[in-house]
Amino acid sequence: MLKRVFAALSLITFTCGVAAADDIALAHRRDNAEADAVEIISMRSALAKEFIKPGAEVNEETFKKVCGEVGKKVKEISEREGVVIRHSAVKSRNPKNSATPEEAVLMERFEKEKKLKGIDEEAFFDGKKYFRVTRPIYVEKACLACHGDKDSRPLFIKEKYPEDRAYGFKTGDLRGLISILIPLD
Ligand code: HEC
Repeated sequence: MLKRVFAALSLITFTCGVAAADDIALAHRRDNAEADAVEIISMRSALAKEFIKPGAEVNEETFKKVCGEVGKKVKEISEREGVVIRHSAVKSRNPKNSATPEEAVLMERFEKEKKLKGIDEEAFFDGKKYFRVTRPIYVEKACLACHGDKDSRPLFIKEKYPEDRAYGFKTGDLRGLISILIPLD
């Protein structure tokens, strides 16, 4: 009898131990994801400031040096960390980044709660369960060359993105979101 009690107790301790280890592992991955999101946002901002200079022509080459480099970084982090990284926006440029109804709700929350730094929660995406780490992306002066006035968008954008809605922004506007999805299944 006593043996059985001990067996049951050690099973409980073992199970709780595993659960605690899982929690620690997830907390660690969440911290990494937050750092990666911040790195991606800062990288785009720094590159835009570096390559968008007053009077300089903004063309597809400029884009490759700014958002193109960000795209490479996103791919590198996704592969290294085994995560899915999504950029999403209600007013998107690339249709693949169009906010899902759920992402649109997240954007609304960031619009309303100006002090909100991020939203971290469990979420389903494409039928799979993830822990999703979401951070807002705001418009800065250097972004306006490509996301400002509709008519002054560089030609390559007008030609390549017929469904473009990512213009008409002002400095400080919420441009979109970055979400890092950590698989839970
Ligand atoms: C040289 C032009 C250019 C500049 C400068 C630029 N962007 Fe973009 N941006 C683009 C293009 C083109 C895309 C579409 C990329 C694609 O096809 O995935 C894009 C896409 C995005 C997206 C993904 C969502 C969507 O609408 O498809 C975000 C977010 C974004 N830009 C934010 C910014 C921010 C913030 C800045 C300033 C720090 C900035 N961009 C500066 C051209 C630019």
